[in-house]
Amino acid sequence: MYEQVWVKKTVYGDGEDQLLQGDGARLPRDILDRAGQIQCVYLDPPFMTGKAFRRKRPWGEAGWKRGAPCLDLSGYTDRFPDEESYLEMLSGMVSASWEMLRPEGVFYLHLDWRMAGEMRNLCDQVFGKERFLNEIIWSYESGGRSKKTFSRKHDNIFLYAKSDHYRFDITRVPLPRGENRQNHMARKTDEDGRTYSSIKAGGKEYRYYDDDPVYPGDVWSDIGFLQQRDPERTGYLTQKPEKLLERMLKPVVDPGDWVADFCCGSGTTMAVAERLGCHYIGVDTNPEFAAISLARLRGENLTVTCGTAMDGREAHTHTDPERNRLWLDGLELTGAPYPEMAKGTDLIESWEVGRIENEVFYSRKRFRRSFRYPALTDNVSVEDGKMPDLMVTDAAGIRRAYRWRNP
Ligand SMILES: C[S@@+](CC[C@H](N)C(=O)[O-])C[C@H]1O[C@@H](n2cnc3c(N)ncnc32)[C@H](O)[C@@H]1O
Repeated sequence: MYEQVWVKKTVYGDGEDQLLQGDGARLPRDILDRAGQIQCVYLDPPFMTGKAFRRKRPWGEAGWKRGAPCLDLSGYTDRFPDEESYLEMLSGMVSASWEMLRPEGVFYLHLDWRMAGEMRNLCDQVFGKERFLNEIIWSYESGGRSKKTFSRKHDNIFLYAKSDHYRFDITRVPLPRGENRQNHMARKTDEDGRTYSSIKAGGKEYRYYDDDPVYPGDVWSDIGFLQQRDPERTGYLTQKPEKLLERMLKPVVDPGDWVADFCCGSGTTMAVAERLGCHYIGVDTNPEFAAISLARLRGENLTVTCGTAMDGREAHTHTDPERNRLWLDGLELTGAPYPEMAKGTDLIESWEVGRIENEVFYSRKRFRRSFRYPALTDNVSVEDGKMPDLMVTDAAGIRRAYRWRNP
C-alpha cells in the first residue's frame, strides 16, 4: 500500500540544474555556491501592479486536447505595502544577481512604467553607470486602449554588464530584412542576381541587399504577447514569450553556460536556456511554480527543491496478477477547486516512479500530459515485483509523494 510522505527535493539524473522555491532576494547557500559562475541573469519581478493574478490550467484528456475544461486557480499576488518594501526586495535581488555573475556575464531586468525609473537608479548603483548597455523597449499591441492619455504599450528591459569584457554577439540574432524598411528606395537587381534597395546621397550609392542580415535595435515591436491558444501557454498570466527570452539569451550565452532567473514563474527562461544547451537556476516564491515549470522542461539533470503537500490525499493503484505491472487508477481528491465530475486519472497532470530516501525523491520515469500528448500513460512495468515510490502532480500543480509500504 502507498502512504503519503513529505519530500523536500526531487532529483532527476545528476541533479545539477536547480529549481528552488524561495525568496530571490535571499538566496540559499546551495545557490550562492555558484557565485561568480553565472553567464546571464534575467529578472522579471512583480511590476507593483497591485493585482492578484489568477491562473487557468486544463485538466483531463479533454482539457489538454481542447483547452477546456480548465481549473480557475489563484496565482501569485503583486501587492506590496509600500514602495519602500518593493525596492528593498528588488535591491536584494539585483545585488544577488551582481554577485552571481561571472566577469563576462550580463544582467537583464524586466519592468514597466511603474518602477522603471527607480530601478534604473538602483541598478546604476549596484552595477555602476558605466556598465549600463541598453534600455530595451518591448512594445506590443495587446490590452485595452486609453482615451485619457497615450496608451501604455511597452515594457522596459535594462541590460547591464558585469565588467567591460562582457560577452555579446549580435550576429546570433539576425532579423529578416523587412521590405517596408526601404520602400522609399529604388529596388534593383545586381549582376549576380541579388536584389537590393538603393539610395544615392552625396554622389554615392548606398545598397541594402535583401539577403544581408539586419540586427535588432533596442525597440522590439516584432514579438507579440502569447495568444490565448498558443501551445506555449501554461496558464501563468504574466508568462513571457520564449521568443523574447531567445533574443535576450542567444547573443550572450554559449552551450554549457549557466543562466539564472530569481523570479522565474512558469519557467520561460529555463525552457529557453535548456534549449540553448545551458545549465539553469530558477527560483520563485510561488509553491506551484515548480510543477508548472517542470511540465515544460526536459529536466534530465535537475534538482527541484520544493516541499510536497501533506494533506492525506490518497493515490490509488493496482497491480496485475503477475505483479509485473503497476496501474495508477487515480488520486482521491474532493472539494474546491476540484470539480466533482473528475475521476480516475482526470485530475492527474503527471506522475513519476522512483525511490524516496532521506526525504529526497529520485525520479526514474516521468509520465505527463501535454497539448501534443493529452492522454496520460496510466501503467508502468515493475521490475522483480519491487514496487516503486510515487510522485503525483495534480492539475492544480500540487505535488504529493507516496512511499510503498508492504502491507
Ligand atoms: C512576472 S512573474 C514572472 C513570469 C515569468 N517570467 C514567466 O515567463 O512565467 C513574477 C514572478 O515573481 C515571483 N516572485 C515574487 N516575489 C518573489 C521573491 N521575493 N522571490 C522570488 N520570486 C518572487 C512571483 O511568484 C511570480 O512568479
